[in-house]
Amino acid sequence: MNIVILAAGTGKRMRSALPKVLHPLAGRPLLSHVLDTARTLNPTRLIVVVGHGADAVKQAVGAPDVQFALQEQQLGTGHAVQQALPLVDPSVPTLVLYGDVPLTRASTLKRLADAAGHGGYGVLTVTLDDPTGYGRIVRNAAGKMVRIVEQKDATPEQLKIAEINTGIVALPTAKLQTWLAALKNDNAQGEFYLTDVVELAIEAGIEIETTQPDEEWETLGVNSKQQLAELERIHQGNVADELLVAGVTLADPARIDVRGTLECGRDVSIDVNCVFEGNVKLADNVTIGANCVIRNATIGEGTRIDAFSHIEGATVGARTAIGPYARLRPGAQLSDEVHIGNFVEVKNAVLGHGSKANHLSYVGDSDVGARVNIGAGTITCNYDGANKFRTIIEDDVFVGSDTQLVAPVRVGRGVTIAAGTTVWKDVEADRLVLNDKTQISKTGYVRPTKKKS
Ligand code: UD1
Ligand code: CA
Repeated sequence: MNIVILAAGTGKRMRSALPKVLHPLAGRPLLSHVLDTARTLNPTRLIVVVGHGADAVKQAVGAPDVQFALQEQQLGTGHAVQQALPLVDPSVPTLVLYGDVPLTRASTLKRLADAAGHGGYGVLTVTLDDPTGYGRIVRNAAGKMVRIVEQKDATPEQLKIAEINTGIVALPTAKLQTWLAALKNDNAQGEFYLTDVVELAIEAGIEIETTQPDEEWETLGVNSKQQLAELERIHQGNVADELLVAGVTLADPARIDVRGTLECGRDVSIDVNCVFEGNVKLADNVTIGANCVIRNATIGEGTRIDAFSHIEGATVGARTAIGPYARLRPGAQLSDEVHIGNFVEVKNAVLGHGSKANHLSYVGDSDVGARVNIGAGTITCNYDGANKFRTIIEDDVFVGSDTQLVAPVRVGRGVTIAAGTTVWKDVEADRLVLNDKTQISKTGYVRPTKKKS
């Protein structure tokens, strides 16, 4: 089938310079969620109707499988679909979706398309406690749907109808050209309504099939920041449910945010207020403490990430201990049984098996071997203001506290660096290295005191 996604509207109530369909839900544009769902249905053509902010929308979601139709003026939903007609395959049905309705399940759309069949007409409807604002589904005495009437055009009697048009429809493509050309805009909004096609279809002898979604939220759209926030919570609740069903322990399913994909092994446990972004993989028995942010990272089996750690673009081995308050930046590659403690930053650095940096250090652009102990306050000086250089620390090195390693520099296997050493020349294996410093201690020093006022 063809899938046409309407995304030309202005979204005035968002009060934003960003086109409405580009506002993020779970870290990605609303429209990207709709495109993802559409793709699972293997459409023959995938067409997005753009208008308001067309260039920005194209830029954001452009892909080889997506075609764009421009609707220069937003003259109504019928007019919007008309703009896509030159791009559709007339031999297959057309499914119309909305760029601002992000949570519809593929299974619901499949059901709608199946109900419509090849030459039929399917409308996704839902019965609401408060149908205000929506187009109402008008049925005849036999219960057959006969038309859709918009809120602004409805009689008081029609306004009492609780079954509404979600807007999502499956249409017979071959007839669309004629039907859309015949639409009139003599209604309360002066628009060409896609909903008026229903009556033209019935005149042509086609029966309208209605289908309902399993969940009401599948049909909710975004017109304001309130609605966006509501849908974000619904989506995050769904993701949390999926994790629980898969056996993940969540301290509070209402306090986790997944903006991307989170893959978990067995017996993973996640404390409150964690944010996962991009692609994150947690192996078996991983424990994540409260308030961690983890983006595009792989965490090995049995590893424990303690509270307030920030991890991005890192690969972490098995049985490691990270944090609390640790920061792993892109290119951090930690082997098994590594320990990274509080206020330690690791960037573009490889740490070998069992190495430890437990307190207050910066390890950047470095190759650190196995069983290396990095003392508190150690800094790799990797940057001369213009260029970055690597620090190489071989296996079994002991780095004393408050050491500076001025790169490029290599420290041989088994070296001991005394506390407070600045290492700016390569050190051969098994040496003790220290700087020549004198400790001076004087008598008779008087500390300044504050004057009492
Ligand atoms: C539409 C339906 C209404 C339904 C409701 C569900 C019509 C006439 N009415 O009303 O029956 O209950 O959706 O939310 O179809 N759009 C364009 N170009 C246009 C006009 C709209 O791309 O010229 C897009 C908008 O960006 C939006 C969607 O189509 O994503 C719906 O448009 P909107 O104006 O919100 O329609 P409603 O009045 O809500
Ligand atoms: Ca709407």
